[in-house]
Amino acid sequence: MKQKKGSLLSWHTEWIMSRFPFQLTTEADYDAAYRFSTESPEAFWEDVASHYQWRKPWHTTLEWNFQEPDVKWFLGAELNITENCIDRHLSDKAEQTAIIWEPNESHEAAKHISYRELHDEVCRMANVLTDLGVTKGDRVCIYMPMIPELAYAVLACARMGAIHSVVFAGFSANSVADRINDSSCKVVITTDAMSRGAKQIAVKAIVDEALTQCTSVERVLVVNRMNWEVPMAEGRDVDYRKEHAHAATIFEPVAMQSEDPLFILYTSGSTGKPKGVLHTCGGYMVYAGYTFSNVFQYKTGEIHWCTADIGWVTGHSYILYGPLLNGATTLMFEGIPTYPDAGRFWEVVDKHRVNIFYTAPTAIRSLMSAGIEHVLPYTLQTLRALGSVGEPINEEAWHWYDTNIGKNRCAIVDTFWQTETGGIMLTSCAGVTNSKPALAGLPLPGVQPILVDSNGNEIEGNDAEGHLCFKFPWPSILRSTWGDHERCRQTYFATYPNLYFTGDGARRDEDGLYRIIGRVDDVINVSGHRFGTAEIENAINQNKHVIESAVVGFPHDIKGQGIYAYVILAKGSEANQDMRDRIIETVAHEIGRIAKPDKIQFVSGLPKTRSGKIMRRILRKVAEGDVSSLGDTTTLLDPTIVEEIVKGAN
Ligand code: WT7
Repeated sequence: MKQKKGSLLSWHTEWIMSRFPFQLTTEADYDAAYRFSTESPEAFWEDVASHYQWRKPWHTTLEWNFQEPDVKWFLGAELNITENCIDRHLSDKAEQTAIIWEPNESHEAAKHISYRELHDEVCRMANVLTDLGVTKGDRVCIYMPMIPELAYAVLACARMGAIHSVVFAGFSANSVADRINDSSCKVVITTDAMSRGAKQIAVKAIVDEALTQCTSVERVLVVNRMNWEVPMAEGRDVDYRKEHAHAATIFEPVAMQSEDPLFILYTSGSTGKPKGVLHTCGGYMVYAGYTFSNVFQYKTGEIHWCTADIGWVTGHSYILYGPLLNGATTLMFEGIPTYPDAGRFWEVVDKHRVNIFYTAPTAIRSLMSAGIEHVLPYTLQTLRALGSVGEPINEEAWHWYDTNIGKNRCAIVDTFWQTETGGIMLTSCAGVTNSKPALAGLPLPGVQPILVDSNGNEIEGNDAEGHLCFKFPWPSILRSTWGDHERCRQTYFATYPNLYFTGDGARRDEDGLYRIIGRVDDVINVSGHRFGTAEIENAINQNKHVIESAVVGFPHDIKGQGIYAYVILAKGSEANQDMRDRIIETVAHEIGRIAKPDKIQFVSGLPKTRSGKIMRRILRKVAEGDVSSLGDTTTLLDPTIVEEIVKGAN
């Protein structure tokens, strides 16, 4: 990115001579940057950070310890991320499209939103939120479909220093309420309704139901999407159409401290309720923009499409912040891959001349199974780079993607990262660094992975396998989990002293490239969505017919992992299909449809040790259909239960 000469904010380039270009475009650049980033990490990140606009310089680049943990980047600096995402592009890109919006219905017109319009709409939204009483530091829950106003809402919060908490619009009222309450949101931004594929969803009604359980919410801003007549609570609910008409298109960005919170995003762990991962302004900005530019090798004028929902971190970093920080054109799609048919993605690629396409293995597998006839009508000739994210990609899907979508001429990047890392960590850089089918690849410069055994000893050298950790902070490492710092320490920093632990197992091959094996904790990854087994069990147990349950993941052809639930019913409750449906409904009600079990097996007991611990190893084996080696079951309280479970497996 080039720094404007004479701009108020160019102080930094005067005293930091950039050693590297912002975008590393050759393998030699990458190697040199990587080496430098491990020898002098602080100097490396100062160099990267100097490519952004800051209101005020930092006095200290980094302070950190992984014990508390306490990580601070660019201390003393002030910035506003939206100034970097929007305002700095107005001098040369005001009329360039910032966001292409493709609606759910293919016959509805797409929208092209220029950087100028984006500026004006974000300012309008910020002014309306100000009128509703939102100020710096307030939490705002955003529960919306993928429409342009969702992007405006996120950026408006960032511009005014409010902390956004986007909740994926597939979560149930209960989940929304939990998230609103955990971070005591003051305002909710939502819509009347939405459509996803052929389905219509009463979004506002879900918010109304959630709010019966919340006391912190003062105002609800309702954006119109579907022209539904929805009940509006007097004194609480506000129709955005009315406010928009007279809202000013100027809003001065609030100067934020580098370590001021930018957003909270809830994600599941192996225990308890989902936790609010906290990211801060300076470090997140530096990392999101840097990774976007380097991983995808974005070139001015290209069209980037990340198919994620902005309700997940992938959408935060690679639909909104990363691309906009680079002055890119980013595509936002409201629909689903299979509506009106399984050719929709490819139709959109051709229609909008997409150059970079970034999706999840589960989508690739489902489109692969739909048949090649859905791909053949489209040329896909504009594609240059393809990305994969969210779960391990199997070789079959990788090759299908390479051959049928990339026509064997696109770079493929398999990007490993997490909500907690804020941006991509392990990956190849499109067309620049070594890439192999089904391997994530190398760490980005500035990223220091380490594999450890279960005692925390480093496994050195190539051709190694272990638990994947990082030993040095990068700018967008999570800072805390909202309202419960101890939980953050426990979850990520306590397992192995002085290391950030991902929860994943990984292999490093003979060339130093990483292959992610999968979670080593009680987290399951269903279609790239993370759930704790305990979280799903708690939901199932809310059904009045259920005494107890145990949930494990099992290999699923399309979803990567499916949800397998073992359920003990109350006396007199009938174990039949109707009961299964009712339990599924309970989970949909407690969490959302995305968490519904694929298989439910009724059992009379669970394999527990004498100390009462469920032996999940056995349940996993049965769910996988591998009952040949169940291992030692002699420590079980009642070993006969295993026989019953094996017989009843489905
Ligand atoms: C977990 C993080 C931020 C990406 C979207 C999901 C798994 C993510 C890969 C990959 C293998 C992957 C890991 C990780 N994961 N990317 N390229 N290869 N596994 O974010 O919900 O925070 O989940 O997703 O298990 O820990 P998330």
